[in-house]
Amino acid sequence: MSDTVLEMDGITSGYMGDIDVLRSVSLSVRKGHISGLIGLNGAGKSTLFKTIYGFLKPKAGAIRLEGQDISGRPPHTLIDHGLWYIPQESSLFSYLSVEENLRLPLESRHKQFGHLIEQRFQDTLAHFPVLREKLKSQAGDLSGGQQKSLEFAKAYMVQPRVCLIDEPSIGLAPKVASEIFQWIKHFAASGMGILLVDHNVRRVVSLSDHIYVLSLGEITASGSPEDFQGDLHAQVKEWLGITF
Ligand SMILES: Nc1ncnc2c1ncn2[C@@H]1O[C@H](COP(=O)(O)OP(=O)(O)OP(=O)(O)O)[C@@H](O)[C@H]1O
Ligand SMILES: [Mg+2]
Repeated sequence: MSDTVLEMDGITSGYMGDIDVLRSVSLSVRKGHISGLIGLNGAGKSTLFKTIYGFLKPKAGAIRLEGQDISGRPPHTLIDHGLWYIPQESSLFSYLSVEENLRLPLESRHKQFGHLIEQRFQDTLAHFPVLREKLKSQAGDLSGGQQKSLEFAKAYMVQPRVCLIDEPSIGLAPKVASEIFQWIKHFAASGMGILLVDHNVRRVVSLSDHIYVLSLGEITASGSPEDFQGDLHAQVKEWLGITF
């Protein structure tokens, strides 16, 4: 489809030579859409993100960003292609200030992005006012919710075409988690393609335009949120062992 921005096509990947954590996984993300990925602990969701973002080299298959094969490209080059990653773990430099963390992704690509930095920085502070009074604080001194806001503010600075978001609400108070999900909606509404994983399956299903179920490294079901209201919904519930 022409508005597909990210595509995984038959990806097999893992950490050790003979153990495949992902087996022939195919999925796609469309411009301005949220693709949600759900699966049990250990299903391979974070491994999937690490493979897209170049931390793991796939053994088979292709990863295409706007039609261009990016499989195995090193992570630090992917910002140039419009891909950004908000990992399950923090990506912040805890001994750098909030301001330094915000500026760093674009500063480190000064040739390409230098002319955008000041305007983006001011826009970002306008949209994330909670960070304005913390600009000189070390990122590591922020609360968990503020650190997550900083991760999203960094993505806002970068304005990628595709953003991978792994478990954004983990450990957050419900109010902060709601704000974070609003940001994800906002990012998609601005045209960004999103691949989202969260343990809050109800949220993922309600927020996503398309949902994939990953089970033991394989995509075992996929569909629209409506598809998950009927039999498939019951099946997913059973696979995931949850009530929602
Ligand atoms: N660095 C690693 N080295 C070797 N095996 C790993 C590594 N990280 C994860 N694994 C294994 O890969 C499998 C998938 O893990 P992964 O972290 O991708 O799952 P997940 O679906 O993200 O789980 P969770 O919901 O707990 O975040 C698990 O069996 C895990 O033990
Ligand atoms: Mg994970």
